[in-house]
Amino acid sequence: MDKPPATVVAPEDQQWIPVCGLSRLISQAIVCVRVTGIDAILIWSEGRVVACERICPHEQADLSRGHLAAGRLFCPRHAASFDLHNGRMSYGWPGRPLRLFPVRIGNDQVWIDANAMKTPAN
Ligand code: FES
Repeated sequence: MDKPPATVVAPEDQQWIPVCGLSRLISQAIVCVRVTGIDAILIWSEGRVVACERICPHEQADLSRGHLAAGRLFCPRHAASFDLHNGRMSYGWPGRPLRLFPVRIGNDQVWIDANAMKTPAN
């Protein structure tokens, strides 16, 4: 009888880390996570998962306390907002775009790309 093939995890897949149950994220809309020492938030917005940095690039407010509307995350401090498709800040505000991190969904879990999180912001 042949042995079953060994399960091989390709090195490029080891960067993916499960961080939250999908149903929990859907019910809470915003969930804080910490991956390899980096704080991020997961967002359920318009039927999709978005992961981004937790600290506002303008003046470091905690974006987990913000609110969501029309595919945007609104900062709780100054009410600037970020497009959750590309991270762009609302017009007229100084600051770089919000960092977004790659995510996948598998086995009812949200997985985040830990390697992408280690890359410093521009
Ligand atoms: S601290 Fe977020 S918009 Fe100013």
